[in-house]
Amino acid sequence: MKEQLLDLAKKRRSIYALGRNVDQTPDEIASLIKENIKWAPTPFNNQTTRAVILFGANHEKLWDIVAKRLKSEVPTEEAYQKTLNKINGFKAAFGTVMFYTDTDVVRRFENDFALYADNFADWSEQAQGNAQFAVWTSLAENGIGANLQHYNPLIDDEVREAFGIPAHWNLRAQLDFGSIEGPAGEKEFMDDADRFKVLK
Ligand SMILES: Cc1cc2nc3c(=O)[nH]c(=O)nc-3n(C[C@H](O)[C@H](O)[C@H](O)COP(=O)(O)O)c2cc1C
Repeated sequence: MKEQLLDLAKKRRSIYALGRNVDQTPDEIASLIKENIKWAPTPFNNQTTRAVILFGANHEKLWDIVAKRLKSEVPTEEAYQKTLNKINGFKAAFGTVMFYTDTDVVRRFENDFALYADNFADWSEQAQGNAQFAVWTSLAENGIGANLQHYNPLIDDEVREAFGIPAHWNLRAQLDFGSIEGPAGEKEFMDDADRFKVLK
């Protein structure tokens, strides 16, 4: 069996110690991200996934927004310091992909394909998963580490304002990426017997 893709899937891990010592340019990385999203499958090829790719001051601005927004959500100053340390780790990375879903397109397909109307919202999330996995794995193939965060919906309004995001784009995830400055943690797996059935 060929296992090239499987080997790459194993290379994709959550890396939290990220830096800016990457060999590629922002243009090269942005192009890789765009191609992966374009080639990830979507239902009826409806292409609902959008991405905003942040580098430099824009990347830092995102994580400053997260830090500021979380201040009122965390109960104590001590807890906030911990949160801030975590967010500063994301800010120390090289860039961030913000993944969005275009809700106008989801709604259009719900209207146009009544038989499948109940599926399009779920399918847009599945399409997100396809795109996120593809981007994350392709970055890993190029020696770039990443981790996936979800500060939406807390940050949605500030981010929309800061980066001029259309109102009908719904923020689904933030993948921050950069040079790998520390290893991934151990990964544990549940029993295959509880997870898979192979019927021959
Ligand atoms: C849908 C989804 C949501 C996730 N959300 C977060 C998150 O909000 N914060 C985080 O640090 N990791 C998040 N992760 C990463 C998982 O915790 C991680 O993938 C899992 O523990 C397996 O570790 P690995 O990525 O190193 O293989 C998410 C992963 C997925 C697929």
